[in-house]
Amino acid sequence: MITLTRLLLVDDARVDFIWLEQMLRRIPGPPRVLDWVSRFEAAEQAIAAGGHDLYFVDFRLGPDSGLDLIRAARRRGVLKPIIMLTGHGSEAVDIAATEAGANDYLVKGEFDHVLLGRTMRYAERNARALAELDRRATQLQALVVDLKTETERRALAETELSEVLRRTVVEQEAERQRIAHELHDSLGQSLTLLQLGLNRLGHSDPAKAGEVGALNQIADELGREINRLAWEIRPTALDDLGLQDAIRHLLDTWGNRTHLHFDLHLMLQDKRLPAVVETTLYRVLQEAVTNVARHAEAVRVGIILEATEQEARLIVEDDGRGFTWDGGSGNAVSSGRLGLLGMRDRLSLVGGTLELETSPGGGTTLFSRVPLPPAGRR
Ligand SMILES: Nc1ncnc2c1ncn2[C@@H]1O[C@H](COP(=O)(O)OP(=O)(O)OP(=O)(O)O)[C@@H](O)[C@H]1O
Ligand SMILES: [Mg+2]
Repeated sequence: MITLTRLLLVDDARVDFIWLEQMLRRIPGPPRVLDWVSRFEAAEQAIAAGGHDLYFVDFRLGPDSGLDLIRAARRRGVLKPIIMLTGHGSEAVDIAATEAGANDYLVKGEFDHVLLGRTMRYAERNARALAELDRRATQLQALVVDLKTETERRALAETELSEVLRRTVVEQEAERQRIAHELHDSLGQSLTLLQLGLNRLGHSDPAKAGEVGALNQIADELGREINRLAWEIRPTALDDLGLQDAIRHLLDTWGNRTHLHFDLHLMLQDKRLPAVVETTLYRVLQEAVTNVARHAEAVRVGIILEATEQEARLIVEDDGRGFTWDGGSGNAVSSGRLGLLGMRDRLSLVGGTLELETSPGGGTTLFSRVPLPPAGRR
């Protein structure tokens, strides 16, 4: 059943109009109206007005081409069925018509009302399918645009986040350095003044010498405690002497506090790494050793620090109870565990990576690598 009722013929020959109209009358279905325009411009206007359900377009329109008319209509988004009429059929006409945007074609004088009806039905179905495809393609395009926007937005957010993280780490280290100096210098100085005063007091009043001596001892302990605190906050060796000394000092402290035995292989010779790399590796080791002491129940801890021209490597291995590691897919803030993920974040800020090998009962080995800039640019 053909539901199309308003049809338009674009043809420069009136005889074709009369003949087509007669043939349409022989097709069963609701009454149809066939309008007729003979010139290109008039056809463009009629098509733009959109009052018809289907168009028949002649291959030749006087000096103009029916193909051009069809192309122009499709370019403007006309999705309705279009059937091309031509004087003679061939594969070339078929290809040209469909490429221009026609849904089918008929050869004048070679079709009857049955073929006409069928062609109209097929053209309508074809046009509808193409319109649906077009709609989906548009949706898909919109989706692609959305996806691209979203990807860009995320990339930007990630860049911003990593910049915030980088600034936080830099500021944190600067603040630690300031506090460490403050502790060491100001408090140290006040303490020295206190001890000098105490000494004077002891000399001027021998009766109080015992009491003053005891106070002096407390002041000594206080001094040592302040130095230890200052060192923990920001090891001066990290800035002055370098990573290896800072590591030795760190492990001495842990050795005194725990029963852990450290096998230390420092293979930097006297080479200094970029300050930010030294700080990063120091903080990674600090957290790794803290984790061993807190969680591993280990006896031995092996530590290797080495550097090639291209990268620095820090390996920390313990013979403790190990654990199940999910690969560190989470986010340090949301997991609430800042240790391992914090290490990974710190390392990634200097382009480095963290890998972990561990299994329950099998100990834990932590590999961290940081790429080094070419020697000239350090
Ligand atoms: N060397 C280790 N041996 C055994 N278990 C470990 C070791 N290192 C980490 N773990 C396990 O991995 C978990 C996560 O470690 P992570 O350092 O991220 O957090 P945390 O030490 O629990 O807390 P914090 O945020 O204070 O560091 C630990 O709770 C522990 O169960
Ligand atoms: Mg930890």
